Amino acid sequence: MRQIWITRAGPPEVLTVKKAPDPEPKAGEVRIRVEASGVNFADVLGRLGLYPDLPPIPVVPGYEVSGRIDAAGPGTESSWVGRDVIAMTRFGGYADVVCVPAQQVFARPPSVSALEGASLPVNYFTAWQLIVVMGGLKPTETVLVHSVGGGVGIAATQIAKHLGARVIGTASAAKHAGLRTMGVDYLIDYRTEDFEARVREITGGRGVELILDAVGGESWKKGYRVLARTGRLGVFGVSAAVSGKQRNPMTMLSLLAKTPWFQFNPLSLMSANKGVFGVNLGHMWGEIDRLRGWADQLFDLWKQGVIAPKVARSFRFDEAAQAHHFIQDRKNIGKVLLVP
Ligand SMILES: NC(=O)c1ccc[n+]([C@@H]2O[C@H](COP(=O)([O-])OP(=O)(O)OC[C@H]3O[C@@H](n4cnc5c(N)ncnc54)[C@H](OP(=O)(O)O)[C@@H]3O)[C@@H](O)[C@H]2O)c1
Repeated sequence: MRQIWITRAGPPEVLTVKKAPDPEPKAGEVRIRVEASGVNFADVLGRLGLYPDLPPIPVVPGYEVSGRIDAAGPGTESSWVGRDVIAMTRFGGYADVVCVPAQQVFARPPSVSALEGASLPVNYFTAWQLIVVMGGLKPTETVLVHSVGGGVGIAATQIAKHLGARVIGTASAAKHAGLRTMGVDYLIDYRTEDFEARVREITGGRGVELILDAVGGESWKKGYRVLARTGRLGVFGVSAAVSGKQRNPMTMLSLLAKTPWFQFNPLSLMSANKGVFGVNLGHMWGEIDRLRGWADQLFDLWKQGVIAPKVARSFRFDEAAQAHHFIQDRKNIGKVLLVP
């Protein structure tokens, strides 16, 4: 098999394709011949040595794949063999062969391509947890989605619009026209405009009921201020920790300095009628039955044409560095994938 390794913390070029013997599925596992692997911003953080959950480098990153099962381990139903599937991998997904526990595998409907399949788990489970499970978004409400052009942002937009909510999104200016056609009602270029002021303007001073913020630091402070009464701030990432293609300790320190450690205390939350909650999908793997329930609901919405992943671009395994450059250069509208 071929795997893409993070060989050391550094620029995209540290990603290296290496060969290894095909793995054999253990008890309860199936083996998948991978047709597409999802790339996530967490992989960029991991490559820079900024992702605490990642096993020590050198490591094969990757949370999700789609492909076809070619072997089933002891205790696993042999009827799985030959089926097209989507799987959550929690590392090791940047590979053309993976072995995963069968409960982390979902049958891929015939109408869903391999590229679309690998775009689903991380982005849509995260958006679902943020908007439906914890954010409780309602039809009359307005949600502010940061990095709305990324994989999670587009998934969140589709779910929010289905619920009948209004979406304000932040993204680089070059993405605005495309995102408007995908249903984002108002767009803000958060690198040149003050999103707090713009949100107040758009909402007539009221603020928003839900915010999805994986930028972190100062952005969380501003977001908390611009929540309407009963508003909820969902925090789920720190992309502001990344300022370039190399790790920069000063950026990390600046992010920590700007993090509102004391603003969200129980007394201030109570008197402001606001809520703050966090999401880390990587720590939900132990809740596999709940995730499978979310998947059923998401597949139903897919069948109804309510959701559909937007694939930004796919790269060959030997172009993995370019895939990371593409994301860090803020060029993707939708999901970036690796294809063996
Ligand atoms: N906690 C969880 O479970 C979880 C799960 C999934 C994702 N996340 C987080 O959610 C965020 C979005 O993830 P994603 O997979 O949807 O993103 P993605 O598809 O990889 O898109 C990345 C986009 O983020 C924007 N961005 C914001 N800050 C950036 C920076 N410092 N450097 C480069 N790009 C930056 C850029 O677009 P614009 O500048 O145009 O906005 C870029 O195109 C990330 O912070 C990720 O870590 C968290």
